[in-house]
Amino acid sequence: SLKEKVDQLHTLFWVTPEKLKSITTHFVSELEKGLSKAGGNIPMIPGWVFEYPTGKEKGDYLAIDLGGTNLRVCLIKLGGDRTFDTIQSKFALPKDIRTTESENLWDFIAVSLRDFLHEEFPEGSVHKLPLGFTFSYPATQTALNHGVLQRWTKGYDIKGVEGHDVVPMLQKALDKYDLPIEVTALINDTTGTLVASAYTDPETQMGLIFGTGCNGAYFEKVNRIPKLEGKLCDDVDLEGLMAINCEYGAFDNEHKVLPRTKYDVIIDEESPRPGQQAFEKMISGYYLGEVMRLVLLDLYADGFIFKNQDISKLNEAYILDTSFPAKIEEDPFENLSDTNELIQTLLGIKTTKPERHLIRKLAEFVGERSSRLSVCGIAALAKKRGLTECHAAADGSVYNKYPNFKERAANALNDIFDWNLPADKHPIKIVAAEDGSGAGAAIIAALAENRLAKGL
Ligand code: BG6
Ligand code: GLC
Repeated sequence: SLKEKVDQLHTLFWVTPEKLKSITTHFVSELEKGLSKAGGNIPMIPGWVFEYPTGKEKGDYLAIDLGGTNLRVCLIKLGGDRTFDTIQSKFALPKDIRTTESENLWDFIAVSLRDFLHEEFPEGSVHKLPLGFTFSYPATQTALNHGVLQRWTKGYDIKGVEGHDVVPMLQKALDKYDLPIEVTALINDTTGTLVASAYTDPETQMGLIFGTGCNGAYFEKVNRIPKLEGKLCDDVDLEGLMAINCEYGAFDNEHKVLPRTKYDVIIDEESPRPGQQAFEKMISGYYLGEVMRLVLLDLYADGFIFKNQDISKLNEAYILDTSFPAKIEEDPFENLSDTNELIQTLLGIKTTKPERHLIRKLAEFVGERSSRLSVCGIAALAKKRGLTECHAAADGSVYNKYPNFKERAANALNDIFDWNLPADKHPIKIVAAEDGSGAGAAIIAALAENRLAKGL
């Protein structure tokens, strides 16, 4: 019966408190492994940002922020008093950008930047403007203005970039358009989020993205990063800190603890990079609609929904983006009339009320699994660093827009830490990050200039 099916799906996607705890325990050891010389699944990429910002950094900086859904071009004015102003233009990434030619990606950024400069600096600039580049993909860094893309994530598959330093690629496109700009810092979006939020809120200890992808950054003690041994200049303070971009979307690529379903296995096998980003593929925005689609196909095949209807559209991979489950969860349960319309428009399928109820439940289960699993990264980082109180700054479309994400994440933290507290009383509290990690890139560019000025 439909009722039994709902219960079955609930069991399939529900992550028990015990499971959350065991995932978190394994997560902590995997974070450690990533910092070791031998390394592990989680890349734990050193970010070459050595200091926690003081909030006094000052000046005007350009930044570009290549996120999962938008490109933002920003001019950031750091006030030097824990505040900053941002002037920014936001460009939705063209749909086909994921599989375009490498040159098109860099040109798209350069042209957006050129248009922005024309607006903001109509007179032109005599000096080269320093630019912080937020690049939300795993890039290995041996210095701040350098980053070799390890592999694309989040469905990107642009040839000729993996294994290369992305800074000169961008710089070449900027030079081609004669833009007076020098890329001085490359940072991950999680590091940008961490630093931007730390600038305004000194309790910030983590920067997290719950968006198209899922990842976190934090400050680690330099002497706790064994893999850096022999790679640091003599002047680096070993007692000091270094920002680490965890890239923990890659957690459990060995499939030891995550409760994967057959749907997660299909998503992985059919992705451009099978075997990668096991954690991210179960929870982040790029995949939630796809999980729903695969379950709907099964429900159809088993005769639960869409009887005698043409399901050809539903057969199309990734036809449903995250807004699909999100909109269904927002729809009042009684009639689910928006859901009715949505399914009709997107898939050309008519639904009955009991069908819509089943689909709504499914959306809840998929969203709930995502938020519960997502916080294991936060809990693991807190445990790893021995933090008992802090702010974890979060950004990204899932955190900001997915219904009930925040409440569910807070419940999961209660489950992991055996708290029984309302979210605003949590000692480790998820807070909304400063909007836009580009500010973090600007602050990092300022920190780098200060280090240079000090001769470090
Ligand atoms: C934005 C940040 O707010 O969120 C970006 O400025 C980040 O740096 C993005 O990449 C992540 O969200 P999404 O949903 O676009 O992947
Ligand atoms: C993916 C990327 C990572 C980024 C995250 C959030 O996991 O690999 O670099 O931080 O998405 O955007």
